Order: sequence, then C-alpha cells, then structure tokens
Amino acid sequence: MTPIYDGKAKTLFAGPHPHTVIVAFKDTATAGNAQKRATFPHKGTLCNAISCKLFELLAAHGLPSHYIRKLSDQSFLAHQVQIIPLEVVVRNRATGSITKRLGIPRGQPFQPPLLEFFYKSDPLGDPLLCESHIFALGLATQNELREIQEQALQANKTLREYFAELRIDLIDMKFEFGKTPNGQILLADEISPDTLRLWDAQTKESLDKDIFREEKGDLVTAYREVARRMGLV
Ligand SMILES: Nc1ncnc2c1ncn2[C@@H]1O[C@H](COP(=O)(O)OP(=O)(O)O)[C@@H](O)[C@H]1O
Ligand SMILES: [Mg+2]
Repeated sequence: MTPIYDGKAKTLFAGPHPHTVIVAFKDTATAGNAQKRATFPHKGTLCNAISCKLFELLAAHGLPSHYIRKLSDQSFLAHQVQIIPLEVVVRNRATGSITKRLGIPRGQPFQPPLLEFFYKSDPLGDPLLCESHIFALGLATQNELREIQEQALQANKTLREYFAELRIDLIDMKFEFGKTPNGQILLADEISPDTLRLWDAQTKESLDKDIFREEKGDLVTAYREVARRMGLV
C-alpha cells in the first residue's frame, strides 16, 4: 500500500471505502520539533490499543470522532478529514512549556481547565496563537472554534474522570480536529501517552512521552503500565 501521508509517529493509508483512512502507528518517538528521535519496539502497538480504547470511551460518552474501528495491532480505521492546523491543548495542571513561558510552578492546578491553541507548523515551531490570530490566518471560523473548544473540554472531562479511576492524573493533552466534506468538526489524530501527560496519582511519576523528552526512565514500560491499568494487556 502507498502511504498518503508519512508522519513522525504514524503513517496514513487510503481506507477501503471513500473518505476513510487507515491510521498506522510507528514505533518511533520524536520530541522538540523532531530534533530528538528514537525507536521503541512495541510503542506503536501500545499507542494504537490505547487510542482505540479512548476513542471508544469518548463515543460511549456521546463524543463522536474520526475513529471507526480497530483494524490490527498497529492500526485503526477512521473517517478522512481535512485537518485544521491547530494543536488544541487542554491543561488541568501546569507543566512543560507553560511553566517556562508564564513562570507558573509545575503541578499548579488550573480550575477551570486552561485551553490553548498552537499553530501546527513544523517550520514555525508550533507557535502559540490567540483567537484573533486564528481568524486572521483563516484557520477556523468563530463557530468552528467554539465547536472545537466545546469538544476539547468535553473530551478532557471524560478522559480525566476515566484516568482518575485508574489512579492516573491527567495533567494536559493535545488534540487535533478535522473537518468532514459536509463541514462537521471531528476530533481526529490519536489519543495516547504521546499526546496526553499522565502522572501516577500516588508517585507523580510520568507515564507519558516526557520520559523520552526528559530521559527519565523506560518509555515502553510506562506505556505498558497505562495499557495494563486500562485492561488492554
Ligand atoms: N482522520 C484523519 N484524516 C486525515 N488526516 C489525519 C487524520 N487523523 C490524523 N491525521 C493527520 O495525519 C498525521 C498523522 O501522523 P503523525 O505522525 O502524527 O504526523 P505529524 O508528523 O504531522 O505529527 C497528522 O499530520 C494528522 O494531522
Ligand atoms: Mg502528530
């Protein structure tokens, strides 16, 4: 099969029906705008299993997405969308870039959750955007942005409650949204420890890609621990 897109963590193939795609996970991890890159056997399988289960969880809570069904250990079937080039970040606690940008102590809670937008552009280094930038660049309309905000906050609420039951604190997350040919806004891409920050509720240890970013332990062991608590392995 010829890929229609070869990304940093996944490859997209044309699906079996019109307007569908196969999302196939790789074993690679990248960080710092792909300055840092490595391969971790089993990572793709774990991210796929976790993503599929989380998209199913959201659907069961009334939030549809591009996800249709799991296809194999490393892939799922999805509705093809036109990706809106925004990284939609929801933060329940401060960590990562926001602690440096605004001088907020790591771990400080945000109540209500904080929503940020970044321009999904590797050449520009994914800069932070205000709403007026989004409209000036023509990335989304006011109605589309409102829809994106509502879905992102709803997904955060469902995921946060779910992970709390697994004794995992959902710290923050990055979502991508896309548009279907009839203009519907759908949550897309993946939901995995590559795109979520997850801390063990007791020890506060990272169970996500920060292990790779900050070189603090074994990434696959942590991803497998998340999958184990989710009942997947
Ligand atoms: N349902 C979809 N339809 C079309 N494109 C999608 C869909 N879901 C995700 N994508 C895009 O496919 C790519 C997935 O591969 P990834 O390795 O994450 O790429 P990137 O290097 O751009 O982050 C992303 O660019 C993402 O925006
Ligand atoms: Mg990506």
